[in-house]
Amino acid sequence: MRMRNKYKKPTSLNCYAGSRYRFSLVVCSFIGCLVMLHFYFLNQSQHSQHAVMRMNNEHPFYRDLVEVEDENIKIPPPRKRSPRAIKRKPKRPTTLIEEFLDESSQLRYLFFPSQRTAIDPTKDAGNESLYYHPGRIWLDTDGNPIQAHGGGILYDDRSRTYYWYGEYKDGPTYHAHKKAAARVDIIGVGCYSSKDLWTWKNEGIVLAAEETNETHDLHKLNVLERPKVIHNKNTNKYVMWMHVDDVNYTKASVGIAVSNSPTGPFNYIKSTRPHGCESRDMTIFKDDDDMAYLIYSSEDNSELHIGPLTQDYLDVTDAMRRILVGQHREAPALFKHEGTYYMVTSGCTGWAPNEALAHAAESVMGPWETMGNPCVGGNKIFRLATFFAQSTFVLPLHGFPGIFIFMADRWNPADLRDSRYVWLPLLVGGPVDRPLDYSFGFPLWPRVSVYWHKRWKLPYKWSGKK
Ligand code: GAL
Repeated sequence: MRMRNKYKKPTSLNCYAGSRYRFSLVVCSFIGCLVMLHFYFLNQSQHSQHAVMRMNNEHPFYRDLVEVEDENIKIPPPRKRSPRAIKRKPKRPTTLIEEFLDESSQLRYLFFPSQRTAIDPTKDAGNESLYYHPGRIWLDTDGNPIQAHGGGILYDDRSRTYYWYGEYKDGPTYHAHKKAAARVDIIGVGCYSSKDLWTWKNEGIVLAAEETNETHDLHKLNVLERPKVIHNKNTNKYVMWMHVDDVNYTKASVGIAVSNSPTGPFNYIKSTRPHGCESRDMTIFKDDDDMAYLIYSSEDNSELHIGPLTQDYLDVTDAMRRILVGQHREAPALFKHEGTYYMVTSGCTGWAPNEALAHAAESVMGPWETMGNPCVGGNKIFRLATFFAQSTFVLPLHGFPGIFIFMADRWNPADLRDSRYVWLPLLVGGPVDRPLDYSFGFPLWPRVSVYWHKRWKLPYKWSGKK
């Protein structure tokens, strides 16, 4: 027994020492791997950052795009009230968002500058030529304010022209009932064409409301929002997808229309609840391989759904993934850079502005990770309110990889037709600002940044040509 014990002891000791050694080896290798991964991703992200910086150096005009501009807005002191009124209801300080939403605010002109400051591309030649002024009234070539809200842009290779589609909202704003959101009756989808992304010609209403038939999806008392158009190479058709709803947003469906020409007329085909699910804010995205996808807010806007369209783009297929589950995001705007998919979304606060978030994915079907708020500059409230606007589309700038135009709507719920456009440069590059879930805290993707500018223009020599 003793002998056996004597014999056994060292063996078990050896065994224990061995496993401890192996365990330490495994732990060390694991840590080693993590460190290497960390440096790899750090290097990758610095690489992209440097790529953008290299481009900046090569083209000094890029520096203007990434310049950080501050906004120093002072909230006016509260109006004088009687001591009795103050005692009854002491006034707490108002926030900039409340000022924004207050039609009688003294700061109104900052968010909705007057007609006097309107951008008129037919007149503003010379020094002001090609400058975007986010928030100012923007006139078309006929001298009328552009009506393309919640819109998106199609670049048509054949005509080498940009087409901007959006909600034509040039009608009175009203509330259908006490609890209903502010609305304008459906007029239709407006279309504007441009070669330089600054001078826009009104191509008319390419999909019109139905005036009489109350059962029609597009009857004027319903809702038509966020129209987007893509071209199908196989069928040679222009296909429009949009959010169609009833006045209480309970129909929650998508509508599909089709045309032989980018300037319409579009033939309305049908509405559907994709994958049998509610669909409110939505967009479509056409990938490099010509596969197209529908992305929509669903399940009471608590999550987004994404799924491929059929070959002809006229329907969804059965495939669908739930993404950003429980994150309550809407107003999705998707884009791609160097094989990675990105998306900017807003929170769900109706017409009121809220914080944008950027998301990224290796595969368009997900999983999608939330990276953080892409807004840079302005001031803290500006950044928390997406510069008082809501995402609608992200347009790649041909010939300038990593540079995009972020298109957003500054909604004016008191007079929706007077909602403004906030177009800003969006750049992909630089490290992420906070660790991602499931990534051991290591940055997986470069940062998406939307830079605030009071006034900016596209890079010098950018002519809209591909
Ligand atoms: C927003 C949405 C807009 C519009 C609005 C109505 O949340 O993004 O497209 O539907 O609500 O209140």
